[in-house]
Amino acid sequence: MRVFVAGASGAIGTRLVPQLVDRGHEVIGTSTSTEKAEDIRALGADPVALDLLDRAAVRRAVLEAAPDAIVHQATALAEMTFSRNFDRTFAKTNRLRTEGTDALLEAAREAQVDRFVAQSFASYRNAREGGPVKTENDPLDPALVATTRESNAAMRHLEEVVTNAGGIALRYGIFYGAANDGLIDPVRKRQYPIVGDGGGVASFIHLDDAAAATVLALEHDGPGIFNVVDDEPAPVREWLPVLAEALGAGLPRRFPRWLARLFAGEAAVVMGTEARGASNAKAKRELGWEPRYPSWREGFVAAYASTALAERRRPDPNALASQSPR
Ligand SMILES: NC(=O)c1ccc[n+]([C@@H]2O[C@H](COP(=O)([O-])OP(=O)(O)OC[C@H]3O[C@@H](n4cnc5c(N)ncnc54)[C@H](OP(=O)(O)O)[C@@H]3O)[C@@H](O)[C@H]2O)c1
Repeated sequence: MRVFVAGASGAIGTRLVPQLVDRGHEVIGTSTSTEKAEDIRALGADPVALDLLDRAAVRRAVLEAAPDAIVHQATALAEMTFSRNFDRTFAKTNRLRTEGTDALLEAAREAQVDRFVAQSFASYRNAREGGPVKTENDPLDPALVATTRESNAAMRHLEEVVTNAGGIALRYGIFYGAANDGLIDPVRKRQYPIVGDGGGVASFIHLDDAAAATVLALEHDGPGIFNVVDDEPAPVREWLPVLAEALGAGLPRRFPRWLARLFAGEAAVVMGTEARGASNAKAKRELGWEPRYPSWREGFVAAYASTALAERRRPDPNALASQSPR
């Protein structure tokens, strides 16, 4: 197939393109910047510069590429910094998930592309009631924290329009496996605490496994929504100390709910204490997918072994200060 990957230069796109090429597909890969053309070519794809928020440009690029399938992996999270207001952090990504998806689908219809796979998210979205692990059929959270409503609405929009068009939405777990993983820095600096009893459940996925599931989804007939997560949804109190250890960081701090609410806001408290995880049974059953890293337990260690070593070798500044001549 000729596969058009919107967002080929990102965390998932850079894993996906080589796997598609290995599988014998021809790939056209986009970035917003012409400077990344050579990087995209090195992955095995034909590079195209494209802003997904420019509807006319999306139409032109898709018609010109004449693909058999489109994958939407565009997000705008590279410059993400912590904010108490999730919707503010995700504002551009939300537009890519609404306007960007609409533009790609419109172009897909015109170019008669009948395979469409788009990125969505699994963790922190389910109703906070009943058991800790939810399937694609379980209800989404009807009582969203106010600062997360727009981001959740954008994901719902994406899933609705993509599946209405016969496509597949993949609800990925929290990505890990790259040097720019979002949790590395805060966990190293011990800025990511266990809140309350640490009972909020998260689902993770190694980027290579996420890419492998995406290849299978492209080769599968839609419509459908699939959780692409590992086998072990787990509460923060379990996964966070293991991640800290894998990164060679100190033990996570513990914050009572009121203190976390003060510093990080209500959404962070809910994620840390009440969130539910996602089941991957449907993706395994219907896509024939098996994660290479079935649990973050071995995945974190594999991903961060060299990082942790470097961290342990870094001289302790306090020790150096105490040795220096006065
Ligand atoms: N499920 C998850 O946990 C999840 C999901 C997504 C991201 N993340 C995390 O967020 C961090 C940043 O992600 P990232 O490295 O993939 O960077 P990113 O900034 O989110 O970019 C992702 C892709 O979208 C493209 N893009 C950005 N704006 C666009 C636009 N207006 N039109 C078309 N394409 C656009 C980027 O192209 P450019 O080359 O122009 O930047 C890139 O190819 C990483 O740590 C990643 O793991 C996590």
